[in-house]
Amino acid sequence: CGIIGYVGDDATAADDAVLDVLMTGLSGLEYRGYDSAGVAVANSSLALYKREGDISALESALPDGSVDGVAGIGHTRWSTHGPPSDANAHPHTDPAERVAVVHNGIIENYQSLRDELEADGHAFESDTDTEVVPHLIADALESGVDRETAFRRAIDRIDGSYAIAAVFAGSEVVYAARNESPLVLGVGDDGHYLASDVPAFIEYTDRVIYLDDGEFARIGPDDLVVTDENGTVVDAAVETIEWDAADAGKSGYDHYMLKEIHEQPTAVRQCLSERVSGLERTIDVDSIADLEPPARVQFVACGTSYHAALYGTRLLRERGVTAQAFLASEYDADSVPVDEETLVVGVTQSGETADTMTALRDATSAGATTLAVTNVVGSSAARMCDHVVYVRAGPEIGVAATKTFVSQQIALALVACELTGTYDDDLVEALRALPDQLQAVLDESATRDVAEEYLESDAYFFIGRGYNAPVALEGALKMKEITYKHAEGFAAGELKHGPLALVTDRTPVFAIVTGGANPRKTVGNVKEVETRGAPVVAVTDGCVDVERYADHVLPVPESHPALTPILANVQLQLVSYWVANRLGRSIDKPRNLAKSVTVE
Ligand code: G6P
Repeated sequence: CGIIGYVGDDATAADDAVLDVLMTGLSGLEYRGYDSAGVAVANSSLALYKREGDISALESALPDGSVDGVAGIGHTRWSTHGPPSDANAHPHTDPAERVAVVHNGIIENYQSLRDELEADGHAFESDTDTEVVPHLIADALESGVDRETAFRRAIDRIDGSYAIAAVFAGSEVVYAARNESPLVLGVGDDGHYLASDVPAFIEYTDRVIYLDDGEFARIGPDDLVVTDENGTVVDAAVETIEWDAADAGKSGYDHYMLKEIHEQPTAVRQCLSERVSGLERTIDVDSIADLEPPARVQFVACGTSYHAALYGTRLLRERGVTAQAFLASEYDADSVPVDEETLVVGVTQSGETADTMTALRDATSAGATTLAVTNVVGSSAARMCDHVVYVRAGPEIGVAATKTFVSQQIALALVACELTGTYDDDLVEALRALPDQLQAVLDESATRDVAEEYLESDAYFFIGRGYNAPVALEGALKMKEITYKHAEGFAAGELKHGPLALVTDRTPVFAIVTGGANPRKTVGNVKEVETRGAPVVAVTDGCVDVERYADHVLPVPESHPALTPILANVQLQLVSYWVANRLGRSIDKPRNLAKSVTVE
């Protein structure tokens, strides 16, 4: 879910700008959830609008005329408690509509709070966990305390993860609190902002304050005050964001995803900048330069980031380090050896994924050193870990990760070299050549043809060995996410141990066959599927003759064996994009998904 809050000055109020700012903010957060949305603006009462559906549904529910008020909040939802509906959409209010609340996270003790409130005669309108909060606030107001105290008392009662914002009828202030869900404040010239993430208000200001867990904020027309859980004012640092609204736009592409695929050469250049020196042939990642080589490395990650982590384990093992990758939701520091000599690496583009954050906390408690490999400066993972390496891909809005995956792979290659002090001239050369090679692969014609030909397939399979195995998994994940078609990725050797039973002439097999990744054996697997009538699409650097068994070839340039898979991945991204495009799918916002999942 994504939340936004805004308090403008009198001029913005006169322009009726509050709703505009809230709606712009929700558009910038839609990647976080898009099954329902709502806004509330405070004047003498509360103007409240909410709708099931994406933000355009809310837009059409807004009044034509003006809405008085300077303070407002908004929410775009990814359902957890209760299906998408008008009633379950945020903001939620108390029955008398004195206060409206938006929330991202999970209130773990909501059922007992709700039981208690219902026993006291409170009637609820939704199935959400969030609705207990306005009821608790209303109860506190009843007892005669002021609004801020009422808000704090309600927050004191809840357990779980939350970024919460509230506005009150008759007030010009937004109150907010954070625990284990992202919340960032924006310091503008014409008002103050709060949001789950910076794209919500980057159009208005690039000056931000990141709230920490346990902190509260009070945002008024003229001031913005951060306090700790005891109410003591915190001297919060104002930071400047380095990218601007144009970076977060579509730049003429039909979809963010296609734009972000095309941004991969730039993303890699940014990741390498000042870290790889061609002249001295060195790799130097400042932020981990003083890290002792660890006895063992454990990666924790989800989704696409997990595939990058699998790639990272191979890089480290080849350099003599014991390395394992865990799905963050399956990690348990008690059941794997973790000690002071263990480095636990959280790979997370958003830096906010709840499963990954929980695993990192677990690792910290067990005494491990932690490293975040993330794209988002100031994100929770970046701030929680002992060390951070930014992947520097720039903002990624499309829900399906593309450029952040490539940047994670490059960052992990640099981390592996830096941690072990091992790099060779060939790798440095190949890294420096990679952006231009990526550019060369971005010609879309061949992938469009392949997509067109296999549009009606029953399923899509992806196979690869070694460094290509995680790319096969990622190829399948992209296909599933944006086309809703059945797709599976396998280590090529595993195909014959079961999945081969699924292979027919209506299931194209994408084989990634590149140098250094046992290509001849993968060609053997290609023959096995070809014999059974499956169409074969080979993604290859031409290291062996796979063409004779393939119906289509998607070429990639020769590179270092650890980097060719990165080039192959781009071809697979493009095929998925074009299949989804031809099927008319919601490419940037696939059904049921969200980019940043801040619940476990
Ligand atoms: C969500 C997204 C995936 C992403 C995963 C991990 O499920 O839909 O695309 O790979 O979270 O996200 P992270 O921000 O931790 O890399």
